[in-house]
Amino acid sequence: MTYQTMDVRPLAGALGAEIYGADLKARDDSPMWIELRQAFIEYHVLAIRGQDMSQDDMMRVGGKFGEPCFYPFAKGMEGYPYITEVIKEKHERENFGADWHTDTMYLEKPPRATLLYALETPPRGGDTLYVNTAAAYDALSGGMKKMLEGLVGVSSGGLKNKKGGDRVAHLSRIGSMTSQNLDKATAFESRHPIVRTHPDTGRKSLYLSCLHTVCLDGFTEDESRPLIKFLNDHCTEPEFSCRVRWEPGQLTVWDNRTTMHNAVNDYHGFRRRMRRLTVGPEVPV
Ligand SMILES: [Fe+2]
Repeated sequence: MTYQTMDVRPLAGALGAEIYGADLKARDDSPMWIELRQAFIEYHVLAIRGQDMSQDDMMRVGGKFGEPCFYPFAKGMEGYPYITEVIKEKHERENFGADWHTDTMYLEKPPRATLLYALETPPRGGDTLYVNTAAAYDALSGGMKKMLEGLVGVSSGGLKNKKGGDRVAHLSRIGSMTSQNLDKATAFESRHPIVRTHPDTGRKSLYLSCLHTVCLDGFTEDESRPLIKFLNDHCTEPEFSCRVRWEPGQLTVWDNRTTMHNAVNDYHGFRRRMRRLTVGPEVPV
């Protein structure tokens, strides 16, 4: 695909592109929006550099990808209930978004896309890793693909498998985020197909994570764990990955239907401040 309204620079073989020269304040009828959506489908993760976005701008750009979604476990910003601040202070050790996952898959209608906008970034570190779960599905054997047909994953908001503690323990250590609903975390539970089909492309992708998927529907946790771990580890092989570096004024948008991500916690002693918005509630099929 060639692009006329922006400079698209691929980040890796499997997914990801940096976008330069895109004007996210462009009018609604600008061809830029059509190209941005094309690039979103082609690259799955877009790191759009050089933006100056208010919360209103972020809501408008998010609206190009779908209706806004509430994040259940942190309060939104004043006047912007859908936008949450993601901050790690200098003195904090735990970060938000570590461990491989796709966003809020424990909801009945998880968001199609996540937008993350950087305001303050550390001088080095704090990158986000992504993998392409459609490429990971394609690389499975015919036997495995057949075995996965019809399997349904049960995902929980409780972070039962997180090292160092569950949702309550995790968010209580992130002092700069205003948490909510922690006592109800395990009540957020969903059943979604392990292999989902992208509504725009028809492409199949793996949809699970060790972090959120507690078992396969109809199987015990002990029975499920080896297969979930194998698929999680398979998805996160280097050949399916890219690494996004951040700078202030960068908006990264990713497709939660075909990717997993992992926020690298390697910048202790520095502040990192982002704004997060998820959009496009969609039942995975
Ligand atoms: Fe995330």
